[in-house]
Amino acid sequence: MPKITWKVSPTEEITAEVKTGITLMEAAVSNNVPRVIGECGGNMACATCHVVVSNECYDLVGEPNDIEDDMLDFTEAERTQNSRLSCQIRVTDELNGLVLTVLDY
Ligand code: FES
Repeated sequence: MPKITWKVSPTEEITAEVKTGITLMEAAVSNNVPRVIGECGGNMACATCHVVVSNECYDLVGEPNDIEDDMLDFTEAERTQNSRLSCQIRVTDELNGLVLTVLDY
């Protein structure tokens, strides 16, 4: 199972082995990652699953589509260049080692 890391503060991170096929939002919620809520259940209607993908890993997940790009304007913490909605990224073996940051509000 691929290992995913969420940086949740400058000094704290959560690393978990995650099943393939689920979304990174579902993986975060099931691992109690703070501030990844997934309020709309992955329907791209809430932006509460906002994460920032590390520069080194961004090519693995790629760019958001136009709808996701629009929704990223509604994140609680201001979006960055590498922001993604984690409900739109499915876990695959290729994502092993992925590092995400969960911004503070
Ligand atoms: S869970 Fe609502 S937009 Fe991702």
